Amino acid sequence: MDQFSLKGQTAVLTGAARGLGLAFAQILGEAGANIAVLDVIQPEEALYKIGTDHNVKVSYQKVDVTNRQAVNQAIETIEKEFGAIHINVNAAGVVTDEPFLTTSDSNIERTFGVNFTGSFLVAQACANSMVRRRKQMDSVPPIGHDTSIGNIVFIGSIATHISTTVQNISCYAASKAAVRGLVKPLAMELAQYGIRVNSLSPGYMMTDMMRGLQVKQPELVSQFEKETLFKRIGYPDELKGAMLFLCSRASGWYTGQDLLVDGGASSWKHPASFAA
Ligand SMILES: NC(=O)c1ccc[n+]([C@@H]2O[C@H](COP(=O)([O-])OP(=O)(O)OC[C@H]3O[C@@H](n4cnc5c(N)ncnc54)[C@H](O)[C@@H]3O)[C@@H](O)[C@H]2O)c1
Repeated sequence: MDQFSLKGQTAVLTGAARGLGLAFAQILGEAGANIAVLDVIQPEEALYKIGTDHNVKVSYQKVDVTNRQAVNQAIETIEKEFGAIHINVNAAGVVTDEPFLTTSDSNIERTFGVNFTGSFLVAQACANSMVRRRKQMDSVPPIGHDTSIGNIVFIGSIATHISTTVQNISCYAASKAAVRGLVKPLAMELAQYGIRVNSLSPGYMMTDMMRGLQVKQPELVSQFEKETLFKRIGYPDELKGAMLFLCSRASGWYTGQDLLVDGGASSWKHPASFAA
């Protein structure tokens, strides 16, 4: 049996209308999972193409993840339409570059609202759905195999492992540290129901956001490139192995961990000056 197959499973992804979230939806869809997306913007056409390319079900609901009632309603709808929820990936996120000394209340509220509270609320609703399903199961898979019935993956960031001199994002880094802070206690609380909880922390990745930065602040992107050991930005499909590992039977003995995939950017002491 293919340890990485997600055939017949349903994955709830937030922030998958574009960017890394969309790449994660493509990865999970290719592995056979049905895809249910919550986002505040209309998805790119590529999201629906997952359905035709891989013969899986794809749905999108316009939901602000900071709104508990909207989140709970959306998860209820997914449960009815798809039958069950097996995977939850929380990729919705925002970042604002603002020096710590002048960080605004609105930045703190929005960044923690989307990155932390949003991830918390969606994971909570998905976990409750998984627990209900587990309680209805007559038996669990025999010991000696992966006995998990659900997987929750939070999206952290390299920013919680190392700071860069070219961005002032203390609020973002702290919000992602709060997200990572959920991983161990949730892994502990939810293991009894067969739910595994981990986070994936990407390094600097080539998304539309990064392409925009290349135009507006090329020096910033060039700094990111210099900070990685391969001197380049990573591509979303380079997170494929990590995401598939976390969501599949391949990681049956893995829970409560943060998986950092950053091209080595946090593995060395960057030279004090990158001046050419
Ligand atoms: N791109 C990178 O280099 C990088 C590196 C480390 C971590 N990350 C993290 O990966 C995730 C995806 O990043 P990205 O670069 O693809 O960003 P992105 O801006 O392209 O995508 C973020 C998505 O989240 C959605 N979103 C924002 N607020 C929302 C809300 N209130 N409710 C529902 N959806 C909402 C957006 O509409 C968008 O589709 C984020 O959590 C980000 O912090 C990105």
